[in-house]
Amino acid sequence: MTNASLPNARKVFIKTYGCQMNVYDSERMADALGASGYVETKEMAEADLVLLNTCHIREKASEKVFSELGRLREMRAERREAGGDLMVGVTGCVAQAEGDEIARRAPVVDLVVGPQSYHRLPEIVARARSGEKVVDTEFPPEDKFSHLPAASREATIARGLTAFLTVQEGCDKFCSFCVVPYTRGAETSRPVADVLAEARRLADAGVREVTLLGQNVNAYHGLDATGRPMGLGELCFRLADIPGLSRVRYTTSHPLDMDDGLIAAHRDLDALMPYLHLPVQSGSDAILKAMNRRHTAAQYLAIIERIRAAKPDMALSGDFIVGFPGETDEDFEATLALVEAVGYASAFTFKYSTRPGTPGASMTDQVPEPVKAERLARLNAAIAAGTARFAQSCVARTLPVLIDKKGRNPGQVGGRSPYLQAVHMDGPERLIGQIVPVEIVAVGNNSLKGRIVTRVEPGSASLVA
Ligand code: 5AD
Ligand code: SF4
Repeated sequence: MTNASLPNARKVFIKTYGCQMNVYDSERMADALGASGYVETKEMAEADLVLLNTCHIREKASEKVFSELGRLREMRAERREAGGDLMVGVTGCVAQAEGDEIARRAPVVDLVVGPQSYHRLPEIVARARSGEKVVDTEFPPEDKFSHLPAASREATIARGLTAFLTVQEGCDKFCSFCVVPYTRGAETSRPVADVLAEARRLADAGVREVTLLGQNVNAYHGLDATGRPMGLGELCFRLADIPGLSRVRYTTSHPLDMDDGLIAAHRDLDALMPYLHLPVQSGSDAILKAMNRRHTAAQYLAIIERIRAAKPDMALSGDFIVGFPGETDEDFEATLALVEAVGYASAFTFKYSTRPGTPGASMTDQVPEPVKAERLARLNAAIAAGTARFAQSCVARTLPVLIDKKGRNPGQVGGRSPYLQAVHMDGPERLIGQIVPVEIVAVGNNSLKGRIVTRVEPGSASLVA
């Protein structure tokens, strides 16, 4: 019998903030709690346990947690008045960074669990249920992944055709604006066998596309069965051998870890999608130095050139921060020039946000808010123009699209191009799960419109009835 069919099973609601790794972690937490009798619910109102899986990367992300905790305090008071109760936990990077302060400031919180302790969640929840307030933000020496239960086949099927898979965690780069090395700790890679076993389970449950996750994923160096470290490029080849897994992606990467093995994989491995998220943060050498990025703009452009020589149709994406301390108009112009030079297919842009404990926080020449806002608007316009140009360049091309959902209207389906663009088209629902050739006919709002190409291969049935 599954937990879902137990009428009196306790219910957990997990609210996820921030990056894709938190999405993955929330699934692992649900799996861990599932093994100890909790059923996941999508309705906060019916939960016995609410977990906020938080993000600390920028101030705004962190602040959201405290306003949500305010609402949960009211919800708990109402429950108690009605004779019920509610348990509340904070997990993720805010938990790691501000664990003790949360416990002090927010009495509604029963448990605080950092990202390296998720395998202990069932035990921590049990202790909290008996009235203890638990704060666990240790970086334990054991490997949490080997202690976390695998998702059930049922849960994996319910999560759909595409899945995240964490292969690497933590970061040793210490960019001067970033909290990640403090919240996620030192860089570690999961062993190759573990990654392959998890990927096989995903494929067995029907997953067609896997996105490998890591804060510095291209620094992956997991050990193989002989104890030799394997790079991300070779790992992608091994994953592509798994029957059913047709597409591999990875995010997010550091320019200095873009090694020859990974570039060769982009050249030689069709299953490795031609989309690369390679943050640069700024186009100014002075700012890159102050950010401790350890590369110049010219070095970044040279890396892009090597990648494009190997894979000419690579769609590039990036992250940018405007208004880092000391950024002048000239520095910002250099960022715009770099955007033009690269020709990004998409990018994420942020105003610099001071993070406590990072070197950037104590830099004196902070940029005024209105200047940041103006630069952000100009950068966004440049990025949007590039995205539109890239989308337009896809029109009249026939791209393999992984159909992964029903469309907005009956008789329509939606999917993803190799470049991670959303594509909508007419087509029968039974195509969901297949990769079909689609001619791009128009560019819509944040998506492409396509037409399924009926291609009858000799000796095979027609793809579309
Ligand atoms: N302020 C603004 N943006 C930040 N990022 C990381 N730290 C900060 C900060 N303090 C951005 C970077 C990173 C992305 C995940 O978030 O661009 O690549
Ligand atoms: Fe943060 Fe990425 Fe820099 Fe690491 S490489 S410190 S995760 S921005």
